[in-house]
Amino acid sequence: MLEGVQNDFPVLKNHPGLAYLDSAASTQKPSVVLDAMDHFYRFNYANIHRGVYSLSEQATASYEAARMRIARFIHAKSPENLVFTRNTTESINLVAATIGESMVREGDEIVVTIMEHHANFVPWQQLALKKGATLKVVGIDRETLELDMAELASAITDKTRFVCCTMASNVLGATPNVAEVTRLARKFGALTVFDAAQFVPHHPLDITSFEPDFLALSGHKMLGADGFGVLYGKSEHLASMPPFMTGGDMIENVTIEKTTYSQPPQKFEAGTPFIAGAISLHSAIDYLENIGLDRIQEHETELARLADEKLRAMGKVRLYRNANRIHNGILPFNVEGVHPHDVATILGDMDICVRAGHHCAQPLIHFMDEIAMIRASFYLYNTEEDVERLVAGIQKTLEVFHK
Ligand code: ALA
Repeated sequence: MLEGVQNDFPVLKNHPGLAYLDSAASTQKPSVVLDAMDHFYRFNYANIHRGVYSLSEQATASYEAARMRIARFIHAKSPENLVFTRNTTESINLVAATIGESMVREGDEIVVTIMEHHANFVPWQQLALKKGATLKVVGIDRETLELDMAELASAITDKTRFVCCTMASNVLGATPNVAEVTRLARKFGALTVFDAAQFVPHHPLDITSFEPDFLALSGHKMLGADGFGVLYGKSEHLASMPPFMTGGDMIENVTIEKTTYSQPPQKFEAGTPFIAGAISLHSAIDYLENIGLDRIQEHETELARLADEKLRAMGKVRLYRNANRIHNGILPFNVEGVHPHDVATILGDMDICVRAGHHCAQPLIHFMDEIAMIRASFYLYNTEEDVERLVAGIQKTLEVFHK
């Protein structure tokens, strides 16, 4: 168990008694991350890539140092493989609107999984509709709640242009075998687009082990600021892709007649970016690696397992998970006969923060014949008391609704 980590998080100190079990939606920020942003704004703030004065040069250096740190974190060959965006959704929209737009033609196929967050579903659905392409949706095994790899293998054909897959489901936590996904896609020359938003907060990520074409993540799910995301892309793709947005900071030369663009990644970073967001993620990665992602994973899994055991023992609670594994500290469930929003409201009144609803993954929720679910998600700062509070909250719910 991780001891004393809660003290690093001002929100948790400022709300004693709060059980924050919604880290899959967004994480709290440790003081070191807040201090890094504060320091930048108080001492080093200026716009980047513009001024020749020292403050601007320092700001540029901090922004580019963040790019190097994130590249090292995911083992990208070069920081130039990383484009900074607002979030995972924007990263994936960038891919769909540039290389997606130029590669997909009528009659082609795009393969996605039923587990996708809307971020890695809707952009591909819309592209397929626009181009007259087919969107193929691969299901999950109803017993194990893991991606159906046999179905994936038969879905990919020589018409497939993109295979888009989550690295960790935000609803079930399930983590598909991405090396196998990539191998199957590559057999037919399809490009891979991975949503790593729920994976990177919990696992070391070495992209050299599966060589994705594109991969997206968000800083706020791993202790960084909200509004800052990353897109990894292979150099050959980034070099040939048209820009996503045009305007400031992404140009090489502009005349009245025409514009030439900067090299990647600047070509894809139009306008003043969220500089402090990049700095926040740099600091968050240092903090997470200092504690150790393996220790974090062990801690959150232990808590989720304890909660799973206690909720299961209460009866009338249906948990949706692989019988053998709990992934990424995520525990989805429903209480028999009670609408998930009613459960979440009772929990909310007791200062227990969970998410209830479709979790931005409506196709998955429908596939599982549900209308909504409750999701408790554990992270490094949660404790056994949080588990006890959740259990007490469900007990209260049962008392109210099953008198
Ligand atoms: N993607 C976030 C979630 O799963 C918002 O809750």
